[in-house]
Amino acid sequence: MVVRSFVALELSDEVREKLAELLKRLHQTNAAVKWVEPENLHLTLKFLGEVPEEQIQNIVEALRAVAQKFEPFSLTVRGVGGFPDLRRPRVLWVGVEATNPLMRLQQLVEQAMEKLGFEPEERAYHPHITIGRVKGMAGIDKVRAILSEHADICFGTVLIKHLTLFRSDLSREGPTYTPLALLPFAKTIPF
Ligand code: 2AM
Repeated sequence: MVVRSFVALELSDEVREKLAELLKRLHQTNAAVKWVEPENLHLTLKFLGEVPEEQIQNIVEALRAVAQKFEPFSLTVRGVGGFPDLRRPRVLWVGVEATNPLMRLQQLVEQAMEKLGFEPEERAYHPHITIGRVKGMAGIDKVRAILSEHADICFGTVLIKHLTLFRSDLSREGPTYTPLALLPFAKTIPF
């Protein structure tokens, strides 16, 4: 059996609610975009694809070792954008500040997964939370107008205390993401 999986950081309920409000407005445009369900919003660090079930434990152990090198850090969710750009977007996202701990974490996850035989990502890491996948240009002007109001809006800050390995099950109704393992960061030593 294979398990479609990816490594990600989870958001707080507070940020999720803020993004849900934005998504509600975006839905009302009736644009040809498949919007992400608020419960599915996350920040991907590494997409692993179809992984043989036997390999999951090795992945978990490698991620555990990476997570233990980190102390909790905050993640700021701010701004909006599109890939390749907002003019003719295929993916719509809200931004995440590329702070040192986040970029270092992504790099160490990437290296750890490469050691286990996963293809390295060629593209530079651009931290983002996908909010929608564009299916056609219908209604995209309205979407752009709403997004441009949020160009510099902060959706909140999340204290990140663990990595999550998710399983992704695809169906006609959309994906279902299930946490397979939570890998805690080292605790900050109290003084
Ligand atoms: P995205 O948000 O930029 O679309 C689960 O599918 C997560 O893995 C998504 O957040 C998705 O990123 C990410 N991902 C990265 N590469 C992927 C790929 N080749 N196929 C599917 N998802 C991918």
